[in-house]
Amino acid sequence: MTGMKKLFAAVGMSAALLCGCSPVSESDGEMNRFISELMDKMTLHEKLGQLNLPSGGDLTTGPIVDSDLAEMIRREEIGGYFNVKGIDKIRELQRIAVEETRLGIPLVVGADIIHGYQTIFPIPLALSCSWDTAAVRRAAEISAKEGSANGISWTFSPMVDICKDARWGRIAEGNGEDPYLGSVLARAYVRGYQGENLRESEVNIMACLKHFALYGASESGRDYNLTDMSRVRMFNEYFPPYRAAVEAGVGTVMTSFNTVDGIPATANEWLLEDVLRGQWGFGGMVVTDYNSIGEMAVHGVADLKKAGIMAMNAGTDMDMVSGSFLYPMAEALSEGSVLEERIDEACRRVLEMKYKLGLFDNPYKYCDTLRAAKDTYSAENRAEARRIAAETFVLLKNEGRLLPLKPGSRIALIGPMADARNNMCGMWSPTCDPSQHQSLLEGMRAAVGDKAEILYAKGSNVYYDGQTEKGAVGIRPLERGDDRQLLAEAMAVAARADVIIAAVGECADMTGESASRTDIRIPDAQRDLLQALVKTGKPVVLLLFTGRPLELAWESENVPAILNVWFGGSETGAAVGDVLFGETVPSGKLTTTFPRSVGQLPLYYGQVNTGRPDGEPGVFNRYVSNYIDCPNDGLYPFGYGLSYTAFEYGEMKLDAEVLPQGGSITVTVPVKNVGDFDGVETVQLYIRDLYADIARPVKELKGFRRIFLRKGESRDVTFTLTADDLKYYNADLVYKYDAGDFQVMVGPDSRNVQTKTFMAE
Ligand code: BGC
Repeated sequence: MTGMKKLFAAVGMSAALLCGCSPVSESDGEMNRFISELMDKMTLHEKLGQLNLPSGGDLTTGPIVDSDLAEMIRREEIGGYFNVKGIDKIRELQRIAVEETRLGIPLVVGADIIHGYQTIFPIPLALSCSWDTAAVRRAAEISAKEGSANGISWTFSPMVDICKDARWGRIAEGNGEDPYLGSVLARAYVRGYQGENLRESEVNIMACLKHFALYGASESGRDYNLTDMSRVRMFNEYFPPYRAAVEAGVGTVMTSFNTVDGIPATANEWLLEDVLRGQWGFGGMVVTDYNSIGEMAVHGVADLKKAGIMAMNAGTDMDMVSGSFLYPMAEALSEGSVLEERIDEACRRVLEMKYKLGLFDNPYKYCDTLRAAKDTYSAENRAEARRIAAETFVLLKNEGRLLPLKPGSRIALIGPMADARNNMCGMWSPTCDPSQHQSLLEGMRAAVGDKAEILYAKGSNVYYDGQTEKGAVGIRPLERGDDRQLLAEAMAVAARADVIIAAVGECADMTGESASRTDIRIPDAQRDLLQALVKTGKPVVLLLFTGRPLELAWESENVPAILNVWFGGSETGAAVGDVLFGETVPSGKLTTTFPRSVGQLPLYYGQVNTGRPDGEPGVFNRYVSNYIDCPNDGLYPFGYGLSYTAFEYGEMKLDAEVLPQGGSITVTVPVKNVGDFDGVETVQLYIRDLYADIARPVKELKGFRRIFLRKGESRDVTFTLTADDLKYYNADLVYKYDAGDFQVMVGPDSRNVQTKTFMAE
């Protein structure tokens, strides 16, 4: 069915279907009536104005475009805006909309509150490594609370793009490589931001699922590049988190920059109408990404006006930045290339969003200046961020139990990340104010008090001049110093210490949007520093800052302890102190595979076996699927992370060997804390379908339990498997399971598992 035909059908649909995926309720009826009455009064120009979303320019998240927002509001040319910071300014713009326009329709105010507004949580990839659904939800709740106190009604989050390629900088913004975990966390974000009753609540905001679709599969890991994959793969591996967010009631969806099947996602009717709205029942509003309609000209698809028409007819409702839904759309309507009903439908969805936010009840709902002072960066929010940050750190290695550090030790904290306040939060925190945050050095000193003496040296620059042939334009490498002098200072400080903590890694600008890398090692100057520190013979802890899995071949062999702290947010310093000194026992587990070599990418645990699998890991064999120069698997697998304590897994038991139709199997595994600390363990369950219509992955995560065990305590951990856990999309995109043999695996990570088999009837 073409967009036009579908449109006619849609116009004939019940109002409830057009208004949201939740079941029809009395309030839907009220909303529909309210909006219909309002739209009866609206001119075409006013309706098109609602579809336009310019950038304010206080914050920069894309190529800069100048917009005089106040004038645009008076001319009734906008439905909302984004990238403005400051509650007074936002309040004044709302006043202009309400008091100086004919119908006084309030504006929606968007922002990228990706992992916090001013209290900054760890980057999303790090948050996912907590495997703590409640913590992720709590981080989203606090982000919403702070955003809403500062004029923001709409966050462009969660980003749930599955990514299996560490070269892509935006891997930092998502939940890693796994569709099951990605779905669980997508739901947690949506619930945290939107709460239970958005219309009544002052502390919740509208979420925006992004980037629909497949942006995380950008070819070669190069940002904005095309994606190209089979539908089987889309439906089984990449779509589940988007769908989960829709089912959790996300109010809006953002289209992605990339093409899917050659068609830019923003104008991809199959994605937006057939899949998102048709199959998944999404009833909310679809917005483009930053100028993605404008970019269709350079994609080689259409000039601005035609691109706008294509996007509109494909089901996009609101245009971020390009302006194509305004005057060009009026022309398109008069020429007959867009139907008035379609414009009405888009306008209705924008107005519904405002209604659901309660903006028609109180346009100034998010402009309470008293709340801004009270709820922003409060002691309570910061305490939560500190606690949550500590849960996201992943202990990759701990030889000789170097960690936790012994009280009374003299510590040399060395590295360009150690005293860099503006580097703590990662690149997606445009609303944060780093001047208020402590650096790692400051935070650690405050956290450890007199338990330890902390000496400091910067040690090196982030990288040497000329590390990249392109000369890393746009990357702020933090302050530069003389390479030799920095190293000499570091050696002098190291000589006085009992233990060295090397705070090294990527700087924030090397990660995130438009930060693809082909060399994913620790940058050169810091590698040299680390090697020099290890050569001193003193114990070295590598405290790794990164927004992506890095290649750590040398480090994993030569550095005794590695604690990956990602970008931990505004409270990083204190949280790192908590973990290094054992106040908090690390429990994070990787949600994305760390490769041995960049040449393995894309790399992920849920591989399909091939007809010639690698029978002898680590040994090269002709005519099987392996590399001459590298094992197939990653250095650190998905699900991996150590603790200061140790957990022992007993034998897994199944309560039956046959899963009857409509029934279930219970899987039980005893887990005991046999170490010296109380601690948290995340027990993981995987399955494998041995024979199916299509080749299926050798392992698929289907459940996890995050449990706290005191020293010496043990517990039976149980999982219930039903036929739903076995289902997948076959080549005809039929969602089904196959009767027959399955494996079930349980373990502390995706590599280290015990296996049993069962049969499904
Ligand atoms: C990014 C989006 C973001 C938008 C608005 C774009 O460049 O891709 O993730 O929400 O800008 O800031």
